[in-house]
Amino acid sequence: MRNRRPALSALAGAVSAALTLSACGDMSGGEPARQSGTIGIAMPTQSSERWLVDGRSVVEDLREVGYRTRLVYGQDDPKTQASQIRSLIAQHVSALVIAAIDNKSLDGVLGQAAAAKIPVISYDRLVLGTKNVDYYASFDNEQVGRLQAHYIVEKLGLEEGKGPFTIELFAGSPDDNNTKYFFDGAMHLLQPYLDSRQLVVRSGRTALDEITTPRWDGAAAKKRMTEVLSTSYRTRRIDAVLSPYDGMSLGILSALRSDGYGSAAKPFPLITGQDAELPSVKSIIAGGQSQTVYKDSRELAQVAANMVDAVLTHHQVRVNDTVTYDNGVKAVPAYLLQPTSVDKSNYEVTLVATDYYTAAQLK
Ligand code: GAL
Repeated sequence: MRNRRPALSALAGAVSAALTLSACGDMSGGEPARQSGTIGIAMPTQSSERWLVDGRSVVEDLREVGYRTRLVYGQDDPKTQASQIRSLIAQHVSALVIAAIDNKSLDGVLGQAAAAKIPVISYDRLVLGTKNVDYYASFDNEQVGRLQAHYIVEKLGLEEGKGPFTIELFAGSPDDNNTKYFFDGAMHLLQPYLDSRQLVVRSGRTALDEITTPRWDGAAAKKRMTEVLSTSYRTRRIDAVLSPYDGMSLGILSALRSDGYGSAAKPFPLITGQDAELPSVKSIIAGGQSQTVYKDSRELAQVAANMVDAVLTHHQVRVNDTVTYDNGVKAVPAYLLQPTSVDKSNYEVTLVATDYYTAAQLK
């Protein structure tokens, strides 16, 4: 389990430089009276460690400033999540923090939230197609993809003209708005090498809609990797796999292992990832997965909790991006944190020195 630490101090510098927006245009002077409401938190799934940590962190941060919380998990089912949110609205929560399962399935229920004057913070994943989302707390999602691609470019020596190398591309869930940002960020760096044939995708699948993975499912990623290996890599080794998320990376790794990869004669390809989940960090240390992108969920939770508190106490909500995240109806004011690339060479300084994991957890 990851460790908690006060993330506010880490944010203070960035926040002070950040652009600010008025929450409701109703600024009160002096210190606000602390609101004592209940905040509804809707997270997508308990099947991945990261969302457990996110849920717990948001709860703790809100409790620290006096709120009660109700945390629900939608079991990766959009209908379940919509009905959970409906029920939170019926319980008169003061605000909602939502990490959507399906980015387009919440318009109806968020209309009900707006009618009940319940502010909505989109958490990590932007809700699309509705005006009823007030703020967005996330990471620079394109940068996540760029970090994954940069790792591949650097390790293969593509800038020095090396190649050709083989690569396969995997993307996240088609109903998660982040998916295209990760993919676009990665392709921004990889496309020139696909064009120059220094990188070759033997399966031929390079378009986003050919490589998505519903619900980010590791088993589905494993199945696709197994198929691709048997159809396109009988006569040639695979050198790199762009994987957007640790849970998928481990599925891909398992398919590769079953195909005989992981020995000195047939080493694993480069495999990227995201979230610095414990099993993936251990795999990186053991020489399986190559890289992950660390997004400190403690900081994200703190940003979301700060947004909730600012909105409810009529203070300014700190944002640092008001243009990038257009949800089809409006550009949602966002606070974006910066992700960090992690591999065997820097996991200690990024994950252990920051108290994200203890050294003992990584043994
Ligand atoms: C994305 C999120 C990633 C990863 C993925 C699968 O929305 O930004 O960090 O967690 O979902 O859960």
